[in-house]
Amino acid sequence: MTTSSVTPAFSFEAHNALIDALVEKGWYVGTDIIDPALCEALAQELSRLKAAQALEEAGIGRGQQHHLRKDIRGDAIHWLNRESEAQRTYLEAMQHLQTALNQTLFLGLFEFEAHFAHYPAGAFYKRHLDSFRGRANRVVSTVSYLTANWPTDGGGEMVIFDPQDPEREVARVIPEAGTFACFLSETVPHEVLPTRHPRASIAGWFRRNASQNGVLDPAR
Ligand code: OGA
Ligand code: MN
Repeated sequence: MTTSSVTPAFSFEAHNALIDALVEKGWYVGTDIIDPALCEALAQELSRLKAAQALEEAGIGRGQQHHLRKDIRGDAIHWLNRESEAQRTYLEAMQHLQTALNQTLFLGLFEFEAHFAHYPAGAFYKRHLDSFRGRANRVVSTVSYLTANWPTDGGGEMVIFDPQDPEREVARVIPEAGTFACFLSETVPHEVLPTRHPRASIAGWFRRNASQNGVLDPAR
């Protein structure tokens, strides 16, 4: 791969480290990965969406199974839809990552879906997997953190657990702007600890085409 195939939105060296980490342990975390100007633009867009009451309370489950569970997750979200330059730049960087993952790991990733997430103070997301075995639609999960100058006592870390030993914590990710995390959706349990500071991120998923027996998988 040549550097010319990569947008400046996303640190190039990260691709190789990320792919190695996904293969070796199923997860990757890197700091200072996303361009600071892009992070700032995305954070401002999320603030505007919140002010315009354009965020929806997040739920769990897809399609008709979708329902609110404040005891499980307390974030408010807005799906990316290419409506701004910042979103388009971000999605293009993810497109590059998708191509790199497909070329090196033959994952057959087919599309990327992502939402902004705002966690107000007090919010959390209990330990979960992003995809269930059997109906493998979400293959690789991504999280980009957007809040600059995260306070040391801010809480809100994402805890990653060992896929082989789900009680064992293997990483604690501080949600500081520029940090990018990525992991296998079907096998890596993770959780967002209660935050004490408003927390901005973009969660996204590379998906396989999961249509089965002519039934189209729910879009989300
Ligand atoms: C999710 C999720 C982690 C984070 O949205 O599914 O696990 O750190 N997010 O925001
Ligand atoms: Mn998750």
